[in-house]
Amino acid sequence: METRLVFLLGCIASFLIGIYGANVTCTVNYISYICKHIANTADFPIVLPANIRKVTLFGTNQLDRSFPNGLFRNPSWLNVSELSILEFSSIDFIEEEFLAGLDNLKFLTISSCPELKKIQPDVFQSTPDLEALYLDGNHYLKLPVVEQALNGTLDKLKYLSLTGIEVIGRHVVLGEKFARVLFTKHLTYIEISGVKTIIIEHVDVLKLLSNVKYLNISYSTLLVADSIGRPVNEYFRNIEYLDATSTTSFGQYNLHLDDSNISWVLGENIKYVFAQHITDPNVRLRLNANYNFENGGLQGLKVLDLSRNNIMFLNITFSGTNDFSALETLNLSSNHLEYISPSLLSSFPSLKLLDLSRNQLHLMQNMDDFLYLFSRNKDLEIIYLPKNNLSVVPSDLFSSNTKLRVIDLIDNELTCLNIDLHHILELSLVDLRNNRLRSLPVAFLEQLEQIRFHQDTAEKHETSMTHILLNDIQDKILIAEKYKYGYNASDNIVFKKVMDIVPQNLLLNVLENPFVCDCDSLDSMKWIVSTYIGIVNRTRLTCKYNNNAELLNNAVIETVRDNCRLLHLTGIAIVSSVATMVSILALGITIHLRRKTVRQSQDLHVLRREILDDNIQFKFVVFLSFCSKDSHVVENIIQPLLNTFLQETFNTDKNLVCTGADSFVPGMLIIEEIHRCINESLVIVPVITPAFLESRWSLRECVDAIEGHKQVVVLMEQNTDTSETIETIRHLIGQYTRASWSYSDGQFVIHPSWNIICDGIIRTAIDSIRNRQWN
Ligand SMILES: *[C@@H]1O[C@H](CO)[C@@H](O)[C@H](O)[C@H]1NC(C)=O
Ligand SMILES: *[C@@H]1O[C@H](CO)[C@@H](O)[C@H](O)[C@H]1NC(C)=O
Ligand SMILES: *[C@@H]1O[C@H](CO)[C@@H](O)[C@H](O)[C@H]1NC(C)=O
Ligand SMILES: *[C@@H]1O[C@H](CO)[C@@H](O)[C@H](O)[C@H]1NC(C)=O
Ligand SMILES: *[C@@H]1O[C@H](CO)[C@@H](O)[C@H](O)[C@H]1NC(C)=O
Ligand SMILES: *[C@@H]1O[C@H](CO)[C@@H](O)[C@H](O)[C@H]1NC(C)=O
Ligand SMILES: *[C@@H]1O[C@H](CO)[C@@H](O)[C@H](O)[C@H]1NC(C)=O
Repeated sequence: METRLVFLLGCIASFLIGIYGANVTCTVNYISYICKHIANTADFPIVLPANIRKVTLFGTNQLDRSFPNGLFRNPSWLNVSELSILEFSSIDFIEEEFLAGLDNLKFLTISSCPELKKIQPDVFQSTPDLEALYLDGNHYLKLPVVEQALNGTLDKLKYLSLTGIEVIGRHVVLGEKFARVLFTKHLTYIEISGVKTIIIEHVDVLKLLSNVKYLNISYSTLLVADSIGRPVNEYFRNIEYLDATSTTSFGQYNLHLDDSNISWVLGENIKYVFAQHITDPNVRLRLNANYNFENGGLQGLKVLDLSRNNIMFLNITFSGTNDFSALETLNLSSNHLEYISPSLLSSFPSLKLLDLSRNQLHLMQNMDDFLYLFSRNKDLEIIYLPKNNLSVVPSDLFSSNTKLRVIDLIDNELTCLNIDLHHILELSLVDLRNNRLRSLPVAFLEQLEQIRFHQDTAEKHETSMTHILLNDIQDKILIAEKYKYGYNASDNIVFKKVMDIVPQNLLLNVLENPFVCDCDSLDSMKWIVSTYIGIVNRTRLTCKYNNNAELLNNAVIETVRDNCRLLHLTGIAIVSSVATMVSILALGITIHLRRKTVRQSQDLHVLRREILDDNIQFKFVVFLSFCSKDSHVVENIIQPLLNTFLQETFNTDKNLVCTGADSFVPGMLIIEEIHRCINESLVIVPVITPAFLESRWSLRECVDAIEGHKQVVVLMEQNTDTSETIETIRHLIGQYTRASWSYSDGQFVIHPSWNIICDGIIRTAIDSIRNRQWN
């Protein structure tokens, strides 16, 4: 009882400490010092450990109103060049002396203080060397307050970030005063994004922007006052990086793409343009125009992102002085694009990465223009085509693109594949995930193996090219960091993602395809299981066999191979009737087990409908063609077994095997009756024995069936000499699926098993129905 009480008290105590206790934790990491959960004045670090350059202070909502003064006066703060003050969510006021003691501060961040409203005008007098000021996520902070604080101070300011300020108000007005305050500074990096509406009210603001290299105005509406006049290149002369994601704009400076008199306001230094989602989402754009560049303009452009812009049709030609010889990355993803002209893409001779994912390019997949789409982009390394509903890829689509590394066709409708890739020796990734491929053509796979063989044997040369390319395009935030930290820091930025994207050696991804394991796909499946080319998650691949998804491995391939040995069979014996009866009983059991799996198939459903519907053309699944001298074996064994199996499969009492004897209508000419019987059956099964081959009558029946383009499954007595028989029959035996049977030790032995033979017959019948639907 006592221990329990102590325990309970302990719990309450630690609970109370959890809520009210000093919770602050500070950690040193090389030159960085980070403190979390600062809840009161005593939680601030007064003296820093030696050699600290960067300090980050995370607050709580428990420190009210303003920061205490004199926090950073200890000499240990003198060496600090970077200070971040984050998440003090109840602070609403910054006093004049707040930053005193931070004489060498270069980077200052005061962010995510949603209540911050007031900054005393002279607060930055203490930090004359400040180069970068980030005031992001302070939703109540108004631009005039910032203007006032910056007035007459911070001559060295290069970077200013005001993301998400003043979202409480209706808009941020960049007027004459704003321009005047910032004019003496050398701003190269400005971020005023996510602020609803930015109104550019005065021409001086644009003049100011002429020094800016990096501009982020994304997730805002941009309004330029009419009084400012036509765009002149000098306004944006030095801009290199523009993030205008989801920026709507009005007035003459708009970024509207559908204006054929488009006059780019961006200077000739522009390298990166991120302009996704800048058009009206309710209007599908047809861009069928000639853009004229009189003053040059975009020849330095390296990366252009125009994704999510509802561009449905894209046939632009360029005239004037511009060329796009620097463009390496073009993103046209998510545009409902139905057409894009090869001549547009041919304007970008250096293109290395093209993202055309999430469009409707299947609408041009049968056009000649699709065939030539990439024919002038000889430097192309990465092509993204996911989610385009493509059902075919022309075999020569990439015939000019010998430098391709990545071909991404994920999430399309491909059912067959004969792309010619043999010339693309650096190929690293072919991604065919989630298509409708039932198998892969062996020829396609062989060329991949040749490429891989080349990669293994050829001398390794410069493979880092693509990696560098991906560094530059893959992460716009990382590129932005370069601008944020100036030229110096850019070398220190480590790009991590790249290795995941481009493997060193050829890799194939075929996951999520409805592979089928059958006689036709056997070779291809065997290849997939055993090739030395990398296949993504090979051991998880499945194929459909007997209507079940089986793991694709050697075991299933062996089973299928056995199944397909209906070809090339040996062994037959003539049977004593006693032994026959015994084996029929034994077989009944296996058949019973078997039919369950077969019965599930969709195709079987169709077949069943065809056979059991009284109005249809086919009354029988099988026509057994045999010589009367063999009637004992046919009528006692083969016919009853086949019929039983088929009746069980289709769950019917109807006779499904026509042998002539019990199906012929008395009084009709026997030859006409045979033709009727053949016509009403889906599959012909000739029972070939020496007697059969000697009977002109039987041969005739068989030849008629073949000439009527019937599907055939051959049952043949072992050791029947077919070398002397007529050509048609020899051909038949060579070509069609066949089984044979023998008799040993009083047992009737058929090879392969009856189950497999009957499966084969049903599959052939299904083929027969399919063929009939095609013709
Ligand atoms: C202590 O830290 C935890 C999270 O680690 C936090 O949930 C709790 O509110 C903090 N307590 C105080 C007093 O700040
Ligand atoms: C400031 O930096 C200098 C040079 O690295 C060093 O000698 C000095 O000790 C540092 N001062 C403090 C208080 O860390
Ligand atoms: C694309 O534009 C060119 C010239 O402007 C024109 O000749 C051609 O017919 C256009 N193509 C399509 C498919 O509209
Ligand atoms: C292209 O844009 C889409 C949508 O904006 C984006 O998801 C995708 O990552 C971009 N592609 C590349 C290669 O950056
Ligand atoms: C630009 O601003 C938006 C909104 O604040 C932000 O999400 C985006 O990451 C910024 N762009 C870059 C390149 O940093
Ligand atoms: C890089 O940084 C060093 C020290 O911070 C400075 O002396 C040098 O001028 C900088 N270089 C450039 C190109 O800005
Ligand atoms: C491969 O399988 C593993 C385990 O299920 C999974 O985590 C991984 O994402 C798969 N890889 C791919 C490329 O699908």
